[in-house]
Amino acid sequence: NSARESLYIVSQFAANYFEEQLWNSDDGKAIGLSYFKERGFREDIIKKFNLGYSPDVWDALTLEAVKNQHAEEYLEKTGLSIRNDKGKLYDRFRGRVMFPIHNFTGRVIGFGGRTLKTDKNVPKYVNSPESDIYHKSNVLYGLYHAKKAIRDQDNCYLVEGYADVLAVHQAYIENVVASSGTSLTIEQIKLISRFTQNVTILYDGDAAGIKASLRGLDMILEEGLNVKVVSFPDGDDPDSYMHKVGAGAFKTYIEEQRKDFILYKANILLAEAGKDPIKRAGIIRDIVESIAKIPDNIKASVFVRECSHLLEIEERVLLTELNAIKLAKS
Ligand code: CTP
Ligand code: MN
Ligand code: MN
Ligand code: MN
Ligand code: MN
Repeated sequence: NSARESLYIVSQFAANYFEEQLWNSDDGKAIGLSYFKERGFREDIIKKFNLGYSPDVWDALTLEAVKNQHAEEYLEKTGLSIRNDKGKLYDRFRGRVMFPIHNFTGRVIGFGGRTLKTDKNVPKYVNSPESDIYHKSNVLYGLYHAKKAIRDQDNCYLVEGYADVLAVHQAYIENVVASSGTSLTIEQIKLISRFTQNVTILYDGDAAGIKASLRGLDMILEEGLNVKVVSFPDGDDPDSYMHKVGAGAFKTYIEEQRKDFILYKANILLAEAGKDPIKRAGIIRDIVESIAKIPDNIKASVFVRECSHLLEIEERVLLTELNAIKLAKS
């Protein structure tokens, strides 16, 4: 319909404007472009993702859009402009490097804007609000640029952030998307499952990132997808690690470190529990609960066998537990 179409059009206008600013304005070049370059991003990657810069001015985009006949209504509805209490429109994104968010057909539907300041009181990212064309929970950042490679490779790498998507592309790996900010949703998993049944998680190597992965991943198992995990050294995310070691070593690392999720989870919990028998009993239940999420019984039985070795517990005991959980759920 035409109102939605107008939202797409003004979003594309804004993306073009931010990109033009990045490459051709004095501030854009001196502040925005040099920021990306200092972080080690190549020009072809900056161009591929249509990255941009929003001037550090109250209403630069708003004025330019209005001058080009874009209605205030659509600037407001996309969240590109915000109306102050005097009724005047100002820009949501100011003095930030801009990541346009595309839907999987390649249309711009929203933006993430990263601050260049190190001040802890300034939010690192400002994002577009929900709108008629942008529903965060069913969008994966980078899917448009990844979908062909996801099909070809029959695997989808899942990362946390915008910069991680760029860095993985820069390592010549194109089958990568980010959940960006929201924790992974069922809709996002269903979206991935249209292209592949195999997901490899590359989460941040901090404690929060690891915990987030354990919680979120049972949901992927439930959808019947195969889940593998690569963890990074503490404090690194895929982006910082790729820039540290380079493209070639990064690729080798993720191929060699890739572990099946269930076994990865079992190892982490096992290390946490140590020798304490009560804690060990607890994690066995926790792991069997993950296995119970796998819809395919044959796959589940393979994990039962592997976990029985890892946990040093008889397969028969795990199977009894597994059946009890399944019975309770049915
Ligand atoms: N995020 C957000 N708002 C924030 C912080 C994070 O929307 N205030 C989202 C962004 O999509 C971000 C992702 O969560 O890319 C992961 O967050 P984080 O790891 O903190 O950021 P990085 O992507 O690593 O960003 P950078 O490398 O630029 O510091
Ligand atoms: Mn999202
Ligand atoms: Mn993080
Ligand atoms: Mn990160
Ligand atoms: Mn990062």
